[in-house]
Amino acid sequence: MYSAILFILILWEVRGSDDFITKYDKYHRVCKRMGFQDKRCEEREIIAFHARLSTHLKNLKDKEVVVFADVTLNKGNAYNATTGKFTAPVKGHYSFTWTIATQSGAWFSTLLVINGKPISYNHVNGKSQGANHETGSSSVILKMEKNDVVSIIMYQTGEIAYGLWSSFSGFKL
Ligand SMILES: *[C@@H]1O[C@H](CO)[C@@H](O)[C@H](O)[C@H]1NC(C)=O
Repeated sequence: MYSAILFILILWEVRGSDDFITKYDKYHRVCKRMGFQDKRCEEREIIAFHARLSTHLKNLKDKEVVVFADVTLNKGNAYNATTGKFTAPVKGHYSFTWTIATQSGAWFSTLLVINGKPISYNHVNGKSQGANHETGSSSVILKMEKNDVVSIIMYQTGEIAYGLWSSFSGFKL
């Protein structure tokens, strides 16, 4: 008796799932005709990082990479906190923002480079503003190919950038 009921239930399940697949195929066809495209799950994975200077940086040289070593987020592991470089794991559009804080009497100039090519500049000047600590930010949106590399480097020499108050972040759109 019970096994007969179970058998009927299983049949019902199978029929139900066939029904589901038929419906799915139908909706899938409709969506495609409307212009939607299939996307594999990995393409939807989040790529995002945020890192701060772990200590104050003093007297950096021209073109030296500014390494934001204190990582607070690194989804997708595209940012390397040892080198300060972000390597695009997939092609696409990416947004980057960096903030530098300096102290009064000092200045710190940086630029964002992709594969060594300058894209965007940031100049923080604490010299002109009395006793204030100065902070400046820049942001950029880039089209990147897989394995393109982005980093923040010095524009000429930099006197001092404040740890914790200076940061670098980015994500794939
Ligand atoms: C970061 O880069 C260094 C130097 O190229 C490398 O040795 C290290 O394995 C990298 N770290 C990660 C987490 O990829």
